[in-house]
Amino acid sequence: MADYIKVLDSDKGYPLDMFCIPRHYEEDLESVLLPRGLIADRTERLARNIVQDMDNSGAVYALCVLKGGYKFFTDLLDCIKALNRNAETSIPMYVDFIRLKSYENDKSSGEIKVIGGDNLSNLTGKNVLIVEDIVDTGKTMQKLLNIVSKFQPASVKVASLLVKRTHRSVGYRPDYIGFEVPDEFVVGYALDYNEYFRDLSHICVINENGKKKYSTQ
Ligand code: IMP
Repeated sequence: MADYIKVLDSDKGYPLDMFCIPRHYEEDLESVLLPRGLIADRTERLARNIVQDMDNSGAVYALCVLKGGYKFFTDLLDCIKALNRNAETSIPMYVDFIRLKSYENDKSSGEIKVIGGDNLSNLTGKNVLIVEDIVDTGKTMQKLLNIVSKFQPASVKVASLLVKRTHRSVGYRPDYIGFEVPDEFVVGYALDYNEYFRDLSHICVINENGKKKYSTQ
Protein backbone atom coordinates (compact mmCIF):
# COMPACT_ATOMS: atom_id res chain seq x y z
CA MET A 1 0.00 0.00 0.00
CA ALA A 2 1.36 3.44 -0.94
CA ASP A 3 2.05 5.70 2.04
CA TYR A 4 0.90 8.83 0.21
CA ILE A 5 -1.97 9.97 -1.98
CA LYS A 6 -1.04 9.82 -5.64
CA VAL A 7 -2.51 12.56 -7.84
CA LEU A 8 -2.43 11.07 -11.35
CA ASP A 9 -1.14 12.94 -14.42
CA SER A 10 -4.62 12.55 -15.90
CA ASP A 11 -6.14 14.31 -12.88
CA LYS A 12 -6.54 17.89 -14.00
CA GLY A 13 -7.90 19.12 -10.64
CA TYR A 14 -11.05 21.17 -10.12
CA PRO A 15 -12.34 24.18 -12.09
CA LEU A 16 -11.46 27.47 -10.39
CA ASP A 17 -15.09 28.61 -10.24
CA MET A 18 -15.99 25.65 -8.00
CA PHE A 19 -13.95 27.20 -5.16
CA CYS A 20 -13.24 30.64 -3.71
CA ILE A 21 -10.14 32.14 -5.33
CA PRO A 22 -8.90 35.68 -4.62
CA ARG A 23 -9.90 37.97 -7.49
CA HIS A 24 -6.29 39.05 -7.99
CA TYR A 25 -5.28 35.49 -9.00
CA GLU A 26 -8.29 34.45 -11.09
CA GLU A 27 -6.52 34.95 -14.41
CA ASP A 28 -3.29 33.31 -13.31
CA LEU A 29 -4.31 29.75 -12.44
CA GLU A 30 -5.16 26.63 -14.39
CA SER A 31 -7.05 24.64 -11.76
CA VAL A 32 -7.38 23.78 -8.07
CA LEU A 33 -5.27 20.64 -7.58
CA LEU A 34 -5.67 20.17 -3.82
CA PRO A 35 -8.41 22.07 -1.97
CA ARG A 36 -7.36 23.21 1.50
CA GLY A 37 -9.90 20.92 3.19
CA LEU A 38 -8.26 17.87 1.66
CA ILE A 39 -4.82 19.17 2.72
CA ALA A 40 -6.11 19.61 6.29
CA ASP A 41 -7.51 16.08 6.46
CA ARG A 42 -4.35 14.51 5.05
CA THR A 43 -2.22 16.57 7.46
CA GLU A 44 -4.24 15.25 10.39
CA ARG A 45 -3.42 11.68 9.38
CA LEU A 46 0.28 12.45 8.82
CA ALA A 47 0.39 13.89 12.35
CA ARG A 48 -1.04 10.65 13.70
CA ASN A 49 1.54 8.57 11.80
CA ILE A 50 4.37 10.78 13.07
CA VAL A 51 3.19 10.61 16.69
CA GLN A 52 2.84 6.81 16.50
CA ASP A 53 6.38 6.47 15.12
CA MET A 54 7.95 8.95 17.53
CA ASP A 55 6.20 7.85 20.70
CA ASN A 56 8.71 6.79 23.35
CA SER A 57 11.66 8.38 21.56
CA GLY A 58 11.61 11.61 23.59
CA ALA A 59 11.22 15.22 22.51
CA VAL A 60 10.94 16.17 18.85
CA TYR A 61 12.75 19.16 17.38
CA ALA A 62 10.54 20.34 14.51
CA LEU A 63 12.43 22.34 11.90
CA CYS A 64 10.33 24.38 9.46
CA VAL A 65 11.77 25.07 6.02
CA LEU A 66 10.70 28.64 5.25
CA LYS A 67 8.96 30.24 3.59
CA GLY A 68 6.96 27.62 1.68
CA GLY A 69 6.73 25.19 4.59
CA TYR A 70 5.13 27.55 7.07
CA LYS A 71 1.48 26.62 6.48
CA PHE A 72 2.08 22.89 6.50
CA PHE A 73 4.35 23.28 9.53
CA THR A 74 1.80 25.19 11.62
CA ASP A 75 -1.11 22.95 10.60
CA LEU A 76 0.90 19.75 11.18
CA LEU A 77 2.08 20.96 14.59
CA ASP A 78 -1.46 21.97 15.54
CA CYS A 79 -2.56 18.39 14.80
CA ILE A 80 0.36 16.93 16.78
CA LYS A 81 -0.47 19.27 19.69
CA ALA A 82 -4.12 18.14 19.59
CA LEU A 83 -2.98 14.52 19.82
CA ASN A 84 -0.62 15.46 22.67
CA ARG A 85 -3.51 17.06 24.57
CA ASN A 86 -5.74 14.04 24.28
CA ALA A 87 -3.59 10.93 24.54
CA GLU A 88 -2.21 8.99 27.48
CA THR A 89 1.34 9.71 26.30
CA SER A 90 2.64 12.93 24.76
CA ILE A 91 5.69 14.17 22.89
CA PRO A 92 7.38 17.44 23.93
CA MET A 93 7.97 19.62 20.85
CA TYR A 94 10.55 22.30 20.09
CA VAL A 95 10.24 24.50 17.02
CA ASP A 96 12.88 26.12 14.85
CA PHE A 97 13.06 27.67 11.38
CA ILE A 98 15.52 27.63 8.51
CA ARG A 99 15.34 29.55 5.25
CA LEU A 100 16.58 28.17 1.93
CA LYS A 101 16.24 29.49 -1.59
CA SER A 102 16.67 27.58 -4.82
CA TYR A 103 14.04 28.77 -7.31
CA GLU A 104 13.92 31.63 -9.79
CA ASN A 105 10.69 31.72 -11.84
CA ASP A 106 9.67 28.07 -12.24
CA LYS A 107 13.21 26.67 -12.56
CA SER A 108 15.62 25.51 -9.91
CA SER A 109 18.61 27.85 -9.98
CA GLY A 110 20.80 24.80 -9.34
CA GLU A 111 22.35 26.62 -6.44
CA ILE A 112 20.76 26.29 -3.00
CA LYS A 113 21.34 29.06 -0.52
CA VAL A 114 20.82 28.94 3.23
CA ILE A 115 19.71 32.53 3.80
CA GLY A 116 18.44 32.34 7.33
CA GLY A 117 18.09 30.16 10.36
CA ASP A 118 18.80 29.85 14.01
CA ASN A 119 21.86 28.30 15.56
CA LEU A 120 21.66 24.73 14.30
CA SER A 121 23.89 23.45 17.11
CA ASN A 122 20.56 23.23 19.00
CA LEU A 123 19.91 20.10 16.91
CA THR A 124 22.73 18.08 18.46
CA GLY A 125 21.41 14.92 20.13
CA LYS A 126 17.78 15.72 19.22
CA ASN A 127 15.14 13.80 17.25
CA VAL A 128 14.73 16.21 14.36
CA LEU A 129 11.62 16.42 12.17
CA ILE A 130 12.23 18.55 9.09
CA VAL A 131 8.99 19.94 7.64
CA GLU A 132 9.06 20.97 3.98
CA ASP A 133 6.39 22.06 1.47
CA ILE A 134 7.54 20.21 -1.64
CA VAL A 135 10.31 17.92 -2.82
CA ASP A 136 10.91 18.40 -6.54
CA THR A 137 14.35 17.22 -7.69
CA GLY A 138 15.24 16.43 -4.05
CA LYS A 139 18.46 18.46 -4.22
CA THR A 140 17.34 21.01 -1.62
CA MET A 141 16.50 18.31 0.91
CA GLN A 142 19.73 16.42 0.24
CA LYS A 143 21.65 19.61 0.88
CA LEU A 144 19.70 20.39 4.04
CA LEU A 145 20.13 16.83 5.36
CA ASN A 146 23.83 17.22 4.76
CA ILE A 147 23.94 20.45 6.76
CA VAL A 148 21.79 19.02 9.58
CA SER A 149 23.84 15.81 9.89
CA LYS A 150 26.96 17.90 10.67
CA PHE A 151 25.29 18.84 13.97
CA GLN A 152 24.90 15.17 14.95
CA PRO A 153 21.20 14.91 15.78
CA ALA A 154 20.00 11.65 17.43
CA SER A 155 17.68 11.04 14.45
CA VAL A 156 16.32 12.91 11.44
CA LYS A 157 12.95 12.40 9.72
CA VAL A 158 11.49 14.47 6.90
CA ALA A 159 7.82 15.28 6.33
CA SER A 160 6.96 16.88 3.00
CA LEU A 161 3.40 17.79 2.07
CA LEU A 162 4.12 17.25 -1.63
CA VAL A 163 6.52 15.23 -3.74
CA LYS A 164 6.67 15.94 -7.46
CA ARG A 165 6.73 13.02 -9.86
CA THR A 166 9.58 14.10 -12.12
CA HIS A 167 12.36 12.57 -14.20
CA ARG A 168 14.67 15.23 -12.69
CA SER A 169 14.39 13.56 -9.27
CA VAL A 170 17.65 12.48 -7.65
CA GLY A 171 15.67 9.62 -6.08
CA TYR A 172 15.30 11.11 -2.62
CA ARG A 173 12.00 10.23 -0.81
CA PRO A 174 10.89 11.85 2.47
CA ASP A 175 9.77 9.68 5.42
CA TYR A 176 6.28 11.21 5.41
CA ILE A 177 4.56 12.36 2.22
CA GLY A 178 1.15 14.00 1.91
CA PHE A 179 0.60 13.80 -1.84
CA GLU A 180 2.62 12.82 -4.89
CA VAL A 181 1.72 15.32 -7.61
CA PRO A 182 2.30 15.58 -11.40
CA ASP A 183 5.26 17.54 -12.76
CA GLU A 184 3.48 20.90 -12.81
CA PHE A 185 4.39 24.13 -11.02
CA VAL A 186 1.99 24.44 -8.09
CA VAL A 187 1.27 27.44 -5.89
CA GLY A 188 -0.80 28.34 -2.84
CA TYR A 189 -0.94 27.15 0.77
CA ALA A 190 2.34 29.09 1.23
CA LEU A 191 3.98 27.74 -1.95
CA ASP A 192 5.04 30.66 -4.13
CA TYR A 193 6.06 31.70 -7.61
CA ASN A 194 8.57 34.53 -7.15
CA GLU A 195 6.91 35.36 -3.79
CA TYR A 196 3.37 35.54 -5.27
CA PHE A 197 0.49 33.17 -4.42
CA ARG A 198 1.45 32.52 -0.78
CA ASP A 199 -1.85 34.23 0.04
CA LEU A 200 -3.88 31.58 -1.80
CA SER A 201 -5.56 28.92 0.36
CA HIS A 202 -5.74 25.97 -2.03
CA ILE A 203 -2.87 24.34 -3.91
CA CYS A 204 -3.38 25.29 -7.55
CA VAL A 205 -1.58 24.83 -10.86
CA ILE A 206 -0.25 28.13 -12.22
CA ASN A 207 -1.02 28.93 -15.88
CA GLU A 208 1.15 30.57 -18.56
CA ASN A 209 -0.44 33.96 -17.91
CA GLY A 210 0.53 33.76 -14.22
CA LYS A 211 4.09 32.68 -15.04
CA LYS A 212 4.49 35.59 -17.45
CA LYS A 213 2.81 38.17 -15.21
CA TYR A 214 4.93 37.36 -12.16
CA SER A 215 8.17 36.51 -13.94
CA THR A 216 11.30 38.28 -12.70
CA GLN A 217 12.65 38.68 -16.25
P1 IMP B 1 14.17 20.71 -5.20
O1 IMP B 1 15.53 21.06 -4.69
O2 IMP B 1 14.17 20.64 -6.71
O3 IMP B 1 13.59 19.47 -4.58
O4 IMP B 1 13.21 21.92 -4.90
C1 IMP B 1 12.66 22.11 -3.68
C2 IMP B 1 12.24 23.55 -3.47
O5 IMP B 1 11.87 24.20 -4.69
C3 IMP B 1 11.02 23.58 -2.61
O6 IMP B 1 11.35 23.75 -1.26
C4 IMP B 1 10.25 24.77 -3.14
O7 IMP B 1 10.67 25.94 -2.48
C5 IMP B 1 10.67 24.89 -4.58
N1 IMP B 1 9.68 24.29 -5.50
C6 IMP B 1 9.83 23.19 -6.27
N2 IMP B 1 8.75 22.93 -6.99
C7 IMP B 1 7.86 23.89 -6.68
C8 IMP B 1 6.50 24.15 -7.11
O8 IMP B 1 5.87 23.45 -7.92
N3 IMP B 1 5.92 25.25 -6.55
C9 IMP B 1 6.55 26.05 -5.65
N4 IMP B 1 7.80 25.83 -5.21
C10 IMP B 1 8.45 24.76 -5.73
